[in-house]
Amino acid sequence: MKDFKSEIAKIISEKVSELSFDEVKEMIEIPQDSKMGDFAFPCFKLAKVMRKAPPLIAQEVAESVESSGIFDKVEAVNAYVNIFLPKAEIAAETLKTVLDKGDAFGTTDKGAGKTVIVEYSSPNIAKPFHIGHIRSTVIGNSIYKIYKALGYDMIRINHLGDYGTQFGKMISAYRRWGNKEDVEKAPIKTLLGYYTKFHEEAEKDPSLEEEARQIFAKLEHGEKEEVELWQWFRDESLKEFNRVYGMLGIEYDSYNGESFYSDKMPRIENELEEKGLMVESRGAQVVDLEEYGLGTALIKKSDGSSLYITRDIAAAVYRKETYDFYKNIYVVASQQTLHFQQLFKILELMGYTEASSGSIHVPFGLVSLEEGTMSTRQGRVVFLEDVLNSAVDKTREIIAEKNPDADNVDEIASQVGIGAVIFNELSNNRIKDYTFKWDTVLNFDGETGPYVQYTHARCASLLRRAGEDIVSKAKDMAINFDYISSENAHELIKLIYAYPSYVELAGEKYEPSVVTRHIIDIAQGFNRFYHDEHIITENEDEKIAKIALTLATKTVIKNGLALLGIEAPERM
Ligand code: ARG
Repeated sequence: MKDFKSEIAKIISEKVSELSFDEVKEMIEIPQDSKMGDFAFPCFKLAKVMRKAPPLIAQEVAESVESSGIFDKVEAVNAYVNIFLPKAEIAAETLKTVLDKGDAFGTTDKGAGKTVIVEYSSPNIAKPFHIGHIRSTVIGNSIYKIYKALGYDMIRINHLGDYGTQFGKMISAYRRWGNKEDVEKAPIKTLLGYYTKFHEEAEKDPSLEEEARQIFAKLEHGEKEEVELWQWFRDESLKEFNRVYGMLGIEYDSYNGESFYSDKMPRIENELEEKGLMVESRGAQVVDLEEYGLGTALIKKSDGSSLYITRDIAAAVYRKETYDFYKNIYVVASQQTLHFQQLFKILELMGYTEASSGSIHVPFGLVSLEEGTMSTRQGRVVFLEDVLNSAVDKTREIIAEKNPDADNVDEIASQVGIGAVIFNELSNNRIKDYTFKWDTVLNFDGETGPYVQYTHARCASLLRRAGEDIVSKAKDMAINFDYISSENAHELIKLIYAYPSYVELAGEKYEPSVVTRHIIDIAQGFNRFYHDEHIITENEDEKIAKIALTLATKTVIKNGLALLGIEAPERM
């Protein structure tokens, strides 16, 4: 699509030799009030270099922008140059592009030939998959979709927490008190029970800890019985996780978790030794990062067992060597910020400079529940699966009330209920903590998933009412743009026009909420248009123009929801 902002920057930077094209582009603003133009250029900064009063400069700049003949109107107001885009042209450009590209509107091939890894969710085996895990899971999935839309070759990794001394405890507990049928019935709840019991008993009898350590050592050495039990715990846990991933529509290319790196650690430890990075501290092996303000990183315990960060070093090196990534994105809670700073620093010190500079930690804040925070230890966990199921149940009730004759109620309830939870998750800046509240999540009128999905369904219903003939004429662009030149229509068109740039921005910032906010704006923009104007009118030309805009709105909402990992039902 024609890039009007660049167009303006080009004209102004030619006129004002003191500023480069990029500088001008940076300075161009979008006024709050569209009566001040679609774009505005402030001239304050220029006063010094041009030795003139800002209003005078604005006047001169306005004249040269005006003389390009591209814009509907250009005016100097005080120190600002206000620029009004050519309405008919932007409408034509936008609708033509959206209707041609359809599902592909908002995608580019900018990232072609570059591989981006997104690591997300990464829960711990045999531990509850709770509401706290929704964040990494859903944010990561959306970042994956956004980068895919930007044309990158994508690899999705679930770095399962499937290794570590806790598995020694789990095996020990299972041998003492466990039972196969119970585990198969409800793997995670049962295994968690054993694990808790182990901790209680170990307080009375510390020799249990030693036993667990020995079992983990056997596991690390690949002893058959231990490996089989561990494998079974892993498989059973994955069955549960996959049920939730299925509900959320999430898939992976690799489930290489921590255990995958068990045989790749000696190499890392040797390299750290050779490069003189490893020092001994109280019997353990550490990397001292004090001089970078990053404390010390524990690489190997005194009993020889490896640690979380060691496995992460091995993983990063493996990923670089296997995928030659351009970016390696970790979507992990902000509590682990220091861990990732240490990891990236160690990679750099080891000489893996590209692996280090291409790795990015994308942190996020905490989610809490209205009833208070969760605590795994005190058994106050809310399973994510239960939350998703209640979302679907509650939505089914709402639909039964609003639309008692709807047919595929189950399908809609699951698309809307689960969509609502995801949308809520992706509505705010990811770094913010937030409280999960049912009233906000399922509100059909607020800035929510159901509201946006409902707007999509409303567009679909208008297209059905208009009929195939009108829709196909709209698709053929047999459009008289005068019918969609009202304030409301123009605002909506500009929002649709801007959508691809928001997808790019979301990618740059690793921030799906940029897309979420923008599709809320589009939905609101469409509803203003819908309330103020008749879409299905007697006048056929008018109907065609308005249906074209409705179809474009529907397309962009659907594409935006897809980037968030949310479905767009045709009826609600
Ligand atoms: N399993 C870890 C946890 O639940 C998250 C793993 C994050 N990813 C990583 N490469 N360290 O806290």
